[in-house]
Amino acid sequence: MAGKFYVTTPIYYVNDTPHIGHAYTTLAADVLARYKRLKGIDVLFLTGTDEHGQKVEKTAAAANITPQELADMVVKRFQELWKRLNISNDDFIRTTEDRHRIAVKRLWDEAVGREDIYLGESEDWYCTPCESFLTGTQIEGGKCPDCKREVEKLKESSYFFRLKGYGERLLTHIGENPDFIRPEAKRNEIVSFLKQGLKDLSVSRTTFSWGIPVPDNPGHVIYVWFDALANYLTGAGYPGKMKFWPADVHIIGKDILRFHAVYWPAFLLSAGLPLPKKIFAHGWWTVEGRKMSKSLGNVVDPFEMIEKYGADQFRYFLLREIPFGLDGDFSISALKGRINGELANDLGNLLSRTVAMVEKYREGVIPQGINSKDRDDREGEIHRSLKVLREGLDEAPSFDECIDGLHFDKALGYVWVIVKLLNAYVEKSAPWVLAKNKDEATLSNVLYTLAEGLRILAVCLYPFIPQSAQNIWCQLGIEEKIDACLFDEEVKIGGRNISGLKVKKGPPLFPRVE
Ligand code: MSP
Repeated sequence: MAGKFYVTTPIYYVNDTPHIGHAYTTLAADVLARYKRLKGIDVLFLTGTDEHGQKVEKTAAAANITPQELADMVVKRFQELWKRLNISNDDFIRTTEDRHRIAVKRLWDEAVGREDIYLGESEDWYCTPCESFLTGTQIEGGKCPDCKREVEKLKESSYFFRLKGYGERLLTHIGENPDFIRPEAKRNEIVSFLKQGLKDLSVSRTTFSWGIPVPDNPGHVIYVWFDALANYLTGAGYPGKMKFWPADVHIIGKDILRFHAVYWPAFLLSAGLPLPKKIFAHGWWTVEGRKMSKSLGNVVDPFEMIEKYGADQFRYFLLREIPFGLDGDFSISALKGRINGELANDLGNLLSRTVAMVEKYREGVIPQGINSKDRDDREGEIHRSLKVLREGLDEAPSFDECIDGLHFDKALGYVWVIVKLLNAYVEKSAPWVLAKNKDEATLSNVLYTLAEGLRILAVCLYPFIPQSAQNIWCQLGIEEKIDACLFDEEVKIGGRNISGLKVKKGPPLFPRVE
C-alpha cells in the first residue's frame, strides 16, 4: 500500500434529522476516501453522531423519551442516509459508545496530568423562567432574547481548560503550516481571532447530566465539544495504538471552525499528540436564495432528493455547483439543469452513442485502435487534455492536486473538457460517413478512441458518481469492479486494452428530468 490517509466528517447532533448540509460534508469526505483508495492508499474514513449535551437532553425530554432512546432513533436516519447516498465510511462513531468514553476520559486525564485543567467558577446569565443559560452577547438590554424578562447572573462551579496558554503555539503552528487551515480566508479569520488573545475555556457543566461525567467528580459532565472532538481520536484507536493518527483532513462547515482550529489543537497539544494535517472549512448552502431554516420550511431533505433525482445526480450537483469552501445556492432548477445538461446530454449521450455505434458497426465488439503515430489532430487534442488532467500544465493543477486541495469543481471541470471533446470528435469524425465509405480502419479507430476515453473518464468520475462510473464500465463490457482498479495505471492511453470486449447496452445512464 502506498501510504495511509485518514479523513473525517463532523459528528452530527442527534437532535435534528439529516439535511443537505450534513450530506454535503459527508459527501466531500467520501470523494476523498474513494479517490485515495483508487490511488492504492490505505484509507480510514470516519463519520458518526454527537449524542450528548443539553440540546439532545432537552429534545428528548420534550418528546418524552430518554436521550439514549432519541439517539438510537435518529442515528438510524443518518446511517440510512449514508447507505442511500452511497457513502463508503469505514467506521461510524457514536459518542455514547464505551470505546469513546474511554478515549474522552483518557484525553481529560492527560490534560489534568499537565495541569491544564483546574476547577473554577463560571459566570453566566440565566433566565429562570426559560431555565436557559445565556452568554453576554445573547442577552438584549439585560433581558432574555426569548421571553424578554430580566435575566440574572449565576455562578456555576466549572472546570476550565488553560486555553490562554496555547495561543502563541497555535499561531506559530499556523504560520509554519500554511495548509493547516483551509481555505485561506478561513485561516486568516482564525489568525486574527488568536491575535486578540484567548480566554480559558469552561469544559464542564453541572446544570444537566446527559454527558460523560468528569473523572472523580461526577457532579460535572464534560463539555460536549471536548467530548465530541475526541471522536477523531477514538476512531483512530486512542488510547491504544493509532495507525491512522494524525488525521490528514478534518472536513467541517465554516460554523464550527473555531472549535476545530483553536480548541481541538490545544487539547491535542496538551495531550502531547500530533495535530491534524489539515482542517478544511466549507461554505454554507442557501436554498433558492434564502437561508435554510426549519421556520422557513425550506430545509432540503436529502432523502427526497435521492428518491426523486438519484444519488449520483445529487452527489454530482453538490460538488459541481460551487467551489468547495465558498457559500452557494441550492435550487431545483439548477439541479435539473445540471442533470439534463452535463449528465444526460453530455456524458449519458456519449456513452449511449458509443455503445450503439459499436453494436451497429462492429457487432458489439470493441475494435482495435491504431498506433499513436497515426493519430489525427482531434485525437491529439484528446490525448493532450488527458495529459493535462494527469500532470497539470503551468499554472493549472493536475486532477490529483485538485482533489488534494478539495477543489472538486475544478477536478470535474477537467473531466468535462474531455467529455465535450469526445462529443465533438463524434460529430467531426462522423462514423456513419466512415461506414458508408467503408473506411474501416478509421472507423475502428474512432470507436476505440471513444470507448477508451469513456473507460478513463469513468475512473476519474468514480469518486464522485461511483454507481454510474461502474455502469459505464459494465456497458463497455469491462468485467472488473471499478473500485478495484488503480487510478495511476488506469488513467492513461493504453492503460487497459479493451479491444475485443463485448459492449452491453444498458438503460440511459442519467434519465432526463422534466
Ligand atoms: N456536533 C457538531 C459537530 C461536532 S464535530 C466534533 C455539529 N453538528 S451538526 O449536526 O450541527 O453538524 C453540522 C454540520 O453540517 C456542520 O459541518 C455544518 O457546517 C453543516 N451544515 C449545517 N447547515 C449547513 C448548510 N446550510 N450548508 C452547508 N453545511 C451546513 O455541529
